[in-house]
Amino acid sequence: MRPKDNDTLAQSSGVNEEARKTSSKGRIRTIAATSAFAVVAVLSILFKNQVRDLFTAAKLESIYSASDRYPLAVYFYDSGSAGCTLIHTSGGDVLIDSGREKAQNNVCDLLSFLGANTLELAVLTHPDSDHIGNFSEVIEEYGADRFLTCAYSESCKSPLYGELSETLRLYDIPIEYASPGDSFSIGGAKLEVISPLKTYKASNDNSVVIRLDYGEFSALFTGDISKKVEKDILESGRNIDCDLLLAAHHGSGGSSSEEFLEAVSPEYTVIEVEESLYLPHGDAIDRLAACSCEIYRTDVSGTVAVFSDGTSGGTVVMEEFE
Ligand SMILES: [Fe+2]
Repeated sequence: MRPKDNDTLAQSSGVNEEARKTSSKGRIRTIAATSAFAVVAVLSILFKNQVRDLFTAAKLESIYSASDRYPLAVYFYDSGSAGCTLIHTSGGDVLIDSGREKAQNNVCDLLSFLGANTLELAVLTHPDSDHIGNFSEVIEEYGADRFLTCAYSESCKSPLYGELSETLRLYDIPIEYASPGDSFSIGGAKLEVISPLKTYKASNDNSVVIRLDYGEFSALFTGDISKKVEKDILESGRNIDCDLLLAAHHGSGGSSSEEFLEAVSPEYTVIEVEESLYLPHGDAIDRLAACSCEIYRTDVSGTVAVFSDGTSGGTVVMEEFE
């Protein structure tokens, strides 16, 4: 087994209870960590190394059992650093980014516990090191029917991207470049590319932005785009009103503009924290809090999982796995 897991205590922040209760987008409840988990968390602090394996097993087992009850799950994986999101459907899995290389936790562990087969779709939003990290290993262990990234990646000269390109070549998986309007149907879920709308100078701005629709449930995955791209997306007129938002660029102050958040009007926002870049930024947190969404952070909550049955007014469950 790989070294894995951390010992953070679970708690959510930025909760606006009133807005949550009056929401028309679905009944949503937050399930707190069980008392058994709390005991393990305390033990983790006191005897960090001794209980690490036990803690990890409890966390992953809980994820596995919850995933069995809903046809759609979105995992904002606590890799220990940066971007890594897994969409698990009855028809297969979609991985959006894979964290940083040699990060604390490896998404292969989650895929293994979920009993994942070949990925239906693998998406590298952009080739920065905090998103591409474990992709070669994921491809080697699980493979992918399709691999999608931005056209900007074509010019990337980093060793990690070179290694990934070679792995994809060895496994005979062609690299596809995302264009707005590209869509994928997987297990009853529809994924649509929203951006990049053009080629930008900055790597982050070229991030593949994807909208997910599953019945009445919707989510938006924004990679590391800045306010500039958010503005372009708004001007494109595409529908970005969603229940769930992955905050752009790990909650950077240069992203999550008021106008963009107003258009998305999320009930829930998850921040895949990038501590080495001192993200998220307080300004972005303030803007997210002002739009009355619940905010979850992977450095506080660990892996954040969202489960949906996709029915109108149906159940969406937010769970935190510390
Ligand atoms: Fe990033």
